[in-house]
Amino acid sequence: MSAYLTAANRLRIVKIEDIQQETPTVKSFTFKDDLCSKAKPGQFIMVWIPDVDEVPMSLSGISPHACSISVKKVGEATKTLHQRKIGDYIGIRGPFGNGFRIGKGKVMVVGGGTGTTALMPLVGSLVEENFKVTFLLGAKTKNELVSRDRIQALLPKVAGRIDVATEDGSCGSEGVITDLAEKYLNNEEFDMIYTCGPERMMYKMLLLSERFQTPLQASLERLMRCAIGICGTCVIGKFRVCRDGPVFTGEQLSKVKEEFGHFKRAFNGRKVKL
Ligand SMILES: Cc1cc2nc3c(=O)[nH]c(=O)nc-3n(C[C@H](O)[C@H](O)[C@H](O)COP(=O)(O)OP(=O)(O)OC[C@H]3O[C@@H](n4cnc5c(N)ncnc54)[C@H](O)[C@@H]3O)c2cc1C
Ligand code: FES
Repeated sequence: MSAYLTAANRLRIVKIEDIQQETPTVKSFTFKDDLCSKAKPGQFIMVWIPDVDEVPMSLSGISPHACSISVKKVGEATKTLHQRKIGDYIGIRGPFGNGFRIGKGKVMVVGGGTGTTALMPLVGSLVEENFKVTFLLGAKTKNELVSRDRIQALLPKVAGRIDVATEDGSCGSEGVITDLAEKYLNNEEFDMIYTCGPERMMYKMLLLSERFQTPLQASLERLMRCAIGICGTCVIGKFRVCRDGPVFTGEQLSKVKEEFGHFKRAFNGRKVKL
């Protein structure tokens, strides 16, 4: 069946069941949807805000009873979403994309800024399957540390640990999260690194994964329109992020190093420096 005709690509209207203010700029919105409840960690949906836009959002919560997205206020669509109240309706399509592949062993999870929320369903699955998880959480400042309490509540179940870095030193180590990751990699071996966050951060994680010969999976963002591999808006090198990703392996990313971490594309296809 063509991707256009699948059940996932059908627009559904869902009610906002709950809203949580996570940080001064990030709100989580809970809704019920059968298809999203069966999504894989790392998959995303398209959220339609009538008269404004349709924008991609990772699922930050996946459960049989309810799902959520966590939205950072950056522009028109996300500002409008932030004004929505419990009981209002939004349109959704999806889930789309491949999601994270769960390997085995001892894993490092590196979340930067809002990207951390896309890692939450993954952490839930890793904990369920008894993985030893080291979660490195980074943000510019303490107020922007997303999902810290949720991670702290999950990890003791698997004797996991969380370590924090903020660029202004207001919480945890002072500096960028990749410096903290480098310290851990210098001292211990990991079977897999999972990461989501600003692309420059993920690029540094790719270089570290190559240096320490540790496999990597990273969740990418690109402009998106169709979300089903047709329009080409989301290309990076030979890949379409909506269809081949959004999660890519280190091996895949090393093939698109001229773009990854350096350029994204505008809606007119022109390269824009990151
Ligand atoms: C797979 C994927 C998952 C994402 N998950 C999340 C998430 O969980 N939480 C979250 O807050 N944000 C997420 N984003 C980014 C989010 O889609 C953009 O922040 C949002 O589209 C901005 O819309 P706007 O109208 O508010 O801002 P605009 O004024 O349109 O733009 C503000 C910034 O967002 C970028 N942007 C605009 N439109 C898009 C688009 N269609 N796709 C991607 N980026 C865009 C622009 O390059 C610009 O830098 C995700 C993006 C992708 C591709
Ligand atoms: S968004 Fe259209 S091909 Fe990916």
